[in-house]
This record gives sequence, structure tokens and C-alpha cells, in this order.
Amino acid sequence: MTTVQRGRFITVEGTEGVGKSTNIDFLCHLLQARGIDIVLTREPGGTPLAEELRELLLSPREERVSQDTELLLMFAARAQHIENVIRPALARGAWVISDRFTDATFAYQGGGRGVDEEHIRLLETLVQHGLHPDLTLLLDLDVEVGLMRASARSTPDRFEQEKVDFFSKVRQAYLQRAANEPERFAIIDASVALPDVQQQIASAVSQYLGN
Ligand code: TMP
Repeated sequence: MTTVQRGRFITVEGTEGVGKSTNIDFLCHLLQARGIDIVLTREPGGTPLAEELRELLLSPREERVSQDTELLLMFAARAQHIENVIRPALARGAWVISDRFTDATFAYQGGGRGVDEEHIRLLETLVQHGLHPDLTLLLDLDVEVGLMRASARSTPDRFEQEKVDFFSKVRQAYLQRAANEPERFAIIDASVALPDVQQQIASAVSQYLGN
């Protein structure tokens, strides 16, 4: 009997308007061209229940949302996503590409909202049971440029309604995490022309694959 090798878990992160969707498409094609079986998913979301939680989290509302409520809903969605999508895919040998994961919680709820990092770490341990991304691409861009791009696209969701100062803190938190774990993160300069962004992604993937 042959044992199936566990797939890899790749996450893509960044503040608003950095070009995640376009570059995730590119990343998926790149991996598929190497014959890799991929599962593309996102957070918050990725399962019917988690997508409902996403809707609750992103809809603008009159009622002030408590930081703890936001944090717990993010992790509730994540628990569902991990158990129903991420772990089964990795177990059958597929590679999972997730548009955001727990680094976003450290950046948005931790950096942006000011939630105690220890609380995030506690939930991370409780919900993830040791699951962590193998590679994280952080698309980095000046937040004002990103917000301008994002606002041209659609009506702002509850997060996009935040001010520049919030996103500056989110960006700093991402960069700090990347500095703390340089072996897991590849920082991609998203301010340059698209082919140059994609060139950086291609070389980060080659480096990760060792060729
Ligand atoms: P996106 O699909 O445009 O990335 O929107 C998801 C939003 O949710 C984005 O503004 C970041 C936010 N978010 C958090 O605040 N914490 C999290 O843990 C995750 C996964 C997303």
C-alpha cells in the first residue's frame, strides 16, 4: 500500500486592494502547471456555514460589534473550514491555497483592533491543533494606494469602512509577523507592475519548491 504524502498549505495575505484575487489566480495556474492538485479556498468562509459567518462579519451594521464577538466569529468560521475543507484536502495530498488565514486575525483583530495577542494565540491553539501554513505570501502595498484601488471596486464592507490609520496598523502587524518568521513568509512588493509582482511570486514558489 502506498501512503499519500500530505499536501502543502499556502496562504495569501495583505491589506485591502493589494491585488490578492488576480495574484491568487496566477499562483493557482503556476502550481497546476507543475501538476499539483490544488484546492482554492478563502477566509472567513470556505464552507457553507463559514460563508454565512463571513456574511455576518462583513456586513456593515448599526450595532457596534464587540472585539471579542468578531474574534470568536473569525475562529468559529476557521474551525469549520479547517475540519471540513483544509484537513481533508491536505490528507488526500492536495495543496490548499487559502485567501487569508490566521495571520489576518493577528493583523486585523490584533494590530488593527488592538485585541491582546495572547487571546488570539489561545484560540489558535484551541482551533488549529498545530495546523499552520507552510508558506505565506504577503502582498505588501502602501495602504492609501490599496484603499483607493479597493474603493473603486465595490461598496465598502464593514472592514473597508475603517480609516487609513486602522490599515496602517494592520500592515505593520503583517510586516512584523513576516519579520518574526522569515522562513515561512515571502514578502511580495505589490506596488510594482503586475508582471513584476507575478515574477516575485514565481520566484518565491520556486524557492519554496527548491527549484
Ligand atoms: P477579503 O475577502 O476582501 O479579504 O475580506 C475579508 C475581510 O475580513 C478583510 O477585510 C479582512 C478581514 N479578516 C479579518 O479581519 N480577520 C481574519 O481573520 C480574516 C480571515 C479576515
